[in-house]
Amino acid sequence: MENFIFQNPTKILFGKGMEEQAGTEVRAYGDKVLLHYGGGSIRRTGLYDRIVASLRRAGVDIVELAGVQPNPRLSLVRQGIQLCRERGIGFILAAGGGSVIDSAKAIAMGVPYAGDVWDFFSGKAELKEALQVGTVLTIPAAGSEASTASVITNEDGWYKRGFNSELIYPRFSILNPELAFTLPKYQMACGASDIMAHIMERYFTNTREVDFTDRLCEATLKTIIQNAPLLAAEPDHYAAWAEVMWAGTVAHNNLLNTGRTGDWGSHDIEHELSAAYDVAHGAGLAVIFPAWMKYVYRHDLARFAQYAVRVWNVDCSFGSPERTALEGIKRLESFYRSLGLPTRLNELQIPEEKLEEMADKCTAGDRQTIGNFVKLRRADVLAIYRLAL
Ligand code: NZQ
Ligand code: ZN
Repeated sequence: MENFIFQNPTKILFGKGMEEQAGTEVRAYGDKVLLHYGGGSIRRTGLYDRIVASLRRAGVDIVELAGVQPNPRLSLVRQGIQLCRERGIGFILAAGGGSVIDSAKAIAMGVPYAGDVWDFFSGKAELKEALQVGTVLTIPAAGSEASTASVITNEDGWYKRGFNSELIYPRFSILNPELAFTLPKYQMACGASDIMAHIMERYFTNTREVDFTDRLCEATLKTIIQNAPLLAAEPDHYAAWAEVMWAGTVAHNNLLNTGRTGDWGSHDIEHELSAAYDVAHGAGLAVIFPAWMKYVYRHDLARFAQYAVRVWNVDCSFGSPERTALEGIKRLESFYRSLGLPTRLNELQIPEEKLEEMADKCTAGDRQTIGNFVKLRRADVLAIYRLAL
């Protein structure tokens, strides 16, 4: 196990009706807020009205910015920065999924910065300060509600890039599993896929002697594998949403990577798909992760066999470690398909001609490698895209 410092400052308010506390939580940081949300799901479900009422009860002035799209865009982030500066806003409340939360975090980064906020995502600038953010989560998926990341798409060139800093951990996140009842089945499945990917990115590591976190990862994966099918059959299954929502937060709040170095290659490879084709991140991951596994499993057969046995209950007497490992990958793919997710690039209408360009962008023209478990160059990324065809 590696040395580590673990400090996740996000306060979690979990359970039925917790959004009623949004006002009190925000008031602890000031009397004016930017309420940031997406394409309108929170208005349709009535969540908007409950949040606004709670903020008013607490004496908080509200400025609104709606319209965050999935794969959130830089142009709206810039508008948000302008709005916060003009109206003297110091706190942002994001109500929605990963896209809304990431957009809020990027606005928070940009307000005190004199240059252009994209400088952080392109690696040109280092973040020194940011406004504070709180969230009301409506979809368990991205884990942004307790993560250090923001992932933004720059429409100028369609670059989707992530930025990480402890300064953008949300101050609080409200997790009411009931808020997810209205999610379409496909969005639920995309969320399950993203949560599993966050765990698997951490699981496939070269760090030795990490049995405790291996087992935490396995338990968290099994929780999703058990509960997502229940949600596919019964969208208002509170108990199953509660399991998935909390597992989704823990999957990405950095607890599961304590003492170990994760991979993250599949995320980088996927981000090219959602940047260029606007596919849902979780759907892209369902296509890329099995292909990545097929490409790298020989690097550590024992770890892949362990994953197959402990997570997918592949029988140890199944045969050789290689057959065991491959059966684990097969069961992951079947699971994705059982949830209605794509597992091939052609299901996302991504043509073969585009693969070279995406591999190029992903590795900055072969000037940088991606991933840690196996360091991948341009040719490797291209081979993974081809395995996903
Ligand atoms: O915009 P609205 O109307 O709210 O509709 C959304 C959106 O269309 C809808 N939705 C959300 N909650 C709903 C609902 N519809 C009905 N009922 C509800 N309760 O779902 C759609 C997808 O929302 P989105 O926020 O895009 O989903 P998700 O949470 O999966 O976020 C995906 C984004 O997060 C990034 C991804 O790259 C992607 O851009 N990620 C962020 C990470 C982070 N910051 O730590 C890590 C992840 O790996 C990921 O990269
Ligand atoms: Zn993800």
